[in-house]
Amino acid sequence: METRIRLSLFNVIVFVVFCVSDSYCDTIKRKVHTECLQPTILPENVTFLNMFYTRANGPDDTLHYITSTYGLLSILVAKTDNGVECNINWKNFFSNNLTDVAHSITFTKSPHYVYGIQFLQLIEYDDPEDKADLDKANPNSTHKYNLSSDVPWTNSSLYSDLSKNEIVFKVNENYTESETGETMTFLPGGSLDFKVRVSGEADRATSLPHLQQTANTTEVDVIMNHILAHYDNARYGLEISYITTNLDQVAGSIHLNTKTSIDDEHTPGVFQIIDISVNMTPTSFIQWKPVCYKSPNRAMKTATKVKNYPLSYDDNITCNVNAKRNILYAYFGEAMCSSTDYKMALFNVSFGLSQDKFYTHTNYSAWSFILGYGEVPSEKISLIIIIIISIGLGVPVLLILFGGLGALVHKKKRDDKSKNTAVN
Ligand SMILES: *[C@@H]1O[C@H](CO)[C@@H](O)[C@H](O)[C@H]1NC(C)=O
Ligand SMILES: *[C@@H]1O[C@H](CO)[C@@H](O)[C@H](O)[C@H]1NC(C)=O
Ligand SMILES: *[C@@H]1O[C@H](CO)[C@@H](O)[C@H](O)[C@H]1NC(C)=O
Ligand SMILES: *[C@@H]1O[C@H](CO)[C@@H](O)[C@H](O)[C@H]1NC(C)=O
Ligand SMILES: *[C@@H]1O[C@H](CO)[C@@H](O)[C@H](O)[C@H]1NC(C)=O
Ligand SMILES: *[C@@H]1O[C@H](CO)[C@@H](O)[C@H](O)[C@H]1NC(C)=O
Ligand SMILES: *[C@@H]1O[C@H](CO)[C@@H](O)[C@H](O)[C@H]1NC(C)=O
Ligand SMILES: *[C@@H]1O[C@H](CO)[C@@H](O)[C@H](O)[C@H]1NC(C)=O
Ligand SMILES: *[C@@H]1O[C@H](CO)[C@@H](O)[C@H](O)[C@H]1NC(C)=O
Ligand SMILES: *[C@@H]1O[C@H](CO)[C@@H](O)[C@H](O)[C@H]1NC(C)=O
Repeated sequence: METRIRLSLFNVIVFVVFCVSDSYCDTIKRKVHTECLQPTILPENVTFLNMFYTRANGPDDTLHYITSTYGLLSILVAKTDNGVECNINWKNFFSNNLTDVAHSITFTKSPHYVYGIQFLQLIEYDDPEDKADLDKANPNSTHKYNLSSDVPWTNSSLYSDLSKNEIVFKVNENYTESETGETMTFLPGGSLDFKVRVSGEADRATSLPHLQQTANTTEVDVIMNHILAHYDNARYGLEISYITTNLDQVAGSIHLNTKTSIDDEHTPGVFQIIDISVNMTPTSFIQWKPVCYKSPNRAMKTATKVKNYPLSYDDNITCNVNAKRNILYAYFGEAMCSSTDYKMALFNVSFGLSQDKFYTHTNYSAWSFILGYGEVPSEKISLIIIIIISIGLGVPVLLILFGGLGALVHKKKRDDKSKNTAVN
């Protein structure tokens, strides 16, 4: 009985310790449900539609996530009151007339906040001088793959686990882009994967870098698995665009922030956390640690660096015709090209570090990031670390104070013992 009480008291202490340490013991939990969206009739030249809808119901509001490879690989997130429905006018969505496509995705009541990202292109570059810097790459030895409908995306229903709210967008077929003539080739068993997992509560991702989730976040894994590189010294980069509701009607003010912590408890060897967010409340954000992994066995020894580059605010890139037939345009319409209604920023990241032997060393690279709504998670020094440090500092002091006494007592006991042994 006594032990049981002590145990539960121990549990409470452990809970408090972890709760305080893991910045968000966000009591908010969302009920998450994911389904595949399929219109009854698809246009003739569309064999299947990779489009998913995830609803995350909370006590006060609902987060709606739409993810699709249609037009351009994109994720759209809207925060609405509870009970609000998402409607898609399929005829307009598939129309050839862009005016029809705009606003073909609507909500029964206007959302409070909307944001989204588009994966614009995967970039391969030759790095003969081992600089691991995309900005210094020679454009003549750079290959760009638009992540548009041209890519032969596989049927995501075959790879996704909707019961776990995990969606997998995968391409594993060699192909040539019709306009640029760019070819992407995979080594046997290779693929380019984007895994999207919507979380409904605060927790840590199970695999490294163990990013912190809240009830309002989605984790995205980008996996470059056995892509046949054009160069022995090849490295990859990714260009992403981010767009968000402009609540204060002021242009600009999307920032990239780098924070440093002395605590690498969750991601050994990594002391930085980077986010792209807007200086307003509420905000949305993209967050990652500058680390990616060169093997499916994610560990410190397979880790390499993710380098980030300055944000760019060129609306034209995301507003070109190529990008228009996607879910973000279907919701925002031309307004996504106007910086008074929405804020947008583009950014690159590249994978690898000087002397890590390039992509071809393992032909594998995996990067994880989260996108979310609400407070930007921050890594605090956890209480458990503080306790460990305190114990670490405290024990020697205790030893100094009581060590002498202990040694005396011990010696006395040993003397007694040896006397007894002698008698026997
Ligand atoms: C389908 O065909 C129409 C013309 O009939 C074209 O405008 C559209 O881009 C095509 N869509 C795809 C996904 O190929
Ligand atoms: C996609 O995969 C799902 C699940 O296996 C299947 O039901 C569906 O028919 C597939 N769609 C196409 C167009 O192959
Ligand atoms: C596109 O649709 C709009 C509104 O439905 C219409 O006014 C316009 O003429 C159409 N454009 C084309 C090229 O058909
Ligand atoms: C790229 O190729 C063009 C044409 O062959 C050449 O003029 C240019 O100098 C090259 N650029 C670099 C950075 O090598
Ligand atoms: C893609 O091309 C590579 C190299 O030519 C070949 O080894 C591989 O089998 C091809 N993959 C598929 C799925 O056809
Ligand atoms: C790829 O995207 C760029 C802009 O991001 C665009 O200029 C180009 O035409 C696209 N290429 C293809 C083949 O769609
Ligand atoms: C965007 O495109 C328009 C027209 O094509 C052009 O006038 C404008 O200067 C471009 N903006 C940027 C930032 O390049
Ligand atoms: C990303 O890198 C590519 C290749 O160097 C470059 O063309 C593009 O402008 C960069 N994008 C941004 C947002 O900096
Ligand atoms: C990676 O792929 C390249 C071809 O692009 C090949 O030469 C190399 O041996 C592969 N590396 C490994 C570890 O399989
Ligand atoms: C998640 O969203 C809810 C509802 O909008 C908000 O109250 C809460 O603070 C958010 N959580 C975090 C950690 O930002």
